[in-house]
Amino acid sequence: MIRTLDDLDAEGKALGVRVDINSPLDEGGLADDARIRAHVDTIEELCRRGARVALLAHQGRPGGEDFSDLSTHAERLDDLLEVPVGYCDATFTAAARDRVADLDDGEAVLLENTRFYSEEYMSFDPAEAAETYLVEKLVPALDAYVNDAFAASHRRQPSIVGFPKVLPSYAGRVMERELDVLGNISESPEPRVYVLGGAKVDDSIEVARSVLERGLADAVLTAGIVGNAFLLADGVSLGAASAAVVNERSHEAVKGAGDLLDDFSHRIYMPRDVAIERNGERVELDLEDLPAENPAMDIGARTLAAYADILEDSGTAILNGPAGVYEDERFEVGTRELYTASTRSEMSIVGGGDTAAALRRLGVDGFDHVSTGGGAALNMLTGGSLIGVDVLNDQS
Ligand code: 3PG
Repeated sequence: MIRTLDDLDAEGKALGVRVDINSPLDEGGLADDARIRAHVDTIEELCRRGARVALLAHQGRPGGEDFSDLSTHAERLDDLLEVPVGYCDATFTAAARDRVADLDDGEAVLLENTRFYSEEYMSFDPAEAAETYLVEKLVPALDAYVNDAFAASHRRQPSIVGFPKVLPSYAGRVMERELDVLGNISESPEPRVYVLGGAKVDDSIEVARSVLERGLADAVLTAGIVGNAFLLADGVSLGAASAAVVNERSHEAVKGAGDLLDDFSHRIYMPRDVAIERNGERVELDLEDLPAENPAMDIGARTLAAYADILEDSGTAILNGPAGVYEDERFEVGTRELYTASTRSEMSIVGGGDTAAALRRLGVDGFDHVSTGGGAALNMLTGGSLIGVDVLNDQS
């Protein structure tokens, strides 16, 4: 059993708390703060219980457009929390250690982007990670470590796997909730329906194979580029434009989809109609009316009605990825309505950081669980474990 905050005597303790506030950015700063909001309960609880909280987090990847410092994240945390949250533009140097030492009980500080340090962007065994500069230099300033960064816990990075080797370590509230739901999918109400959409076709095909082979899925509904890959594999001539979009994402997708159809055709559902752009307008086409001159951008009304019926009768609906190009108003209806229909299932679970941001934009809510994790959630849905969780378990 993993130790949680219920097992931690927080009063007066200096805690290193790993959060995942990696967020979409635009010119104005944070484009979406869902991941920041997700950690409010953990941080507030620890501060209320008298801890001194040093937050560790990353933003983007070195070289990427969204690789940035964490000053705006700290400001947003300070706005959202009732307790004060400061910002320190160092992670493990004397400046960072002094800043942590200066915290009063009940105060928090966000340390600088862990990925500004090259070791944090490498992959380590936990014992090696414990010997990195980041961990060795920060540990003297800390009494214990809390991992609340479920969404980054598939990474073998020092701030995730190093500290539990050398400090008493605990799972935060976000981590606890995620493990509770995603770790117990096999006990969720049946029938279980997976909706796989979006553009990460290979990931979705892997999830579909895994849940079908393990008997976890009673039905897999395909949509978005994933749906188009299955239609192509089934011999539907969608048109060169749609085929090009699928191939751009993956050369293996159509073959992978075809293999799955050979093994599990009775449990895989494909779109019955699609929406394309014609003369600037949304036009819906039945499969008999294809091929189309433009790529399929959304599912059509017939597909939506059929999928909504299945979802409404389901025990658990697990959704990952949008049903179409929801960023374009003409093609958002499929995603909005499909996700809305899934909330009528007994239990609805949404996986994937990007999907959560999309839903907030479309104003759809009412799910039982919206995972903060992209890759981490997929890892759990395909039956894998998370290294960041394994090291917490090793401690107990
Ligand atoms: C995510 O966005 O899925 C996590 O923050 C992990 O980020 P990464 O894929 O850059 O490691």
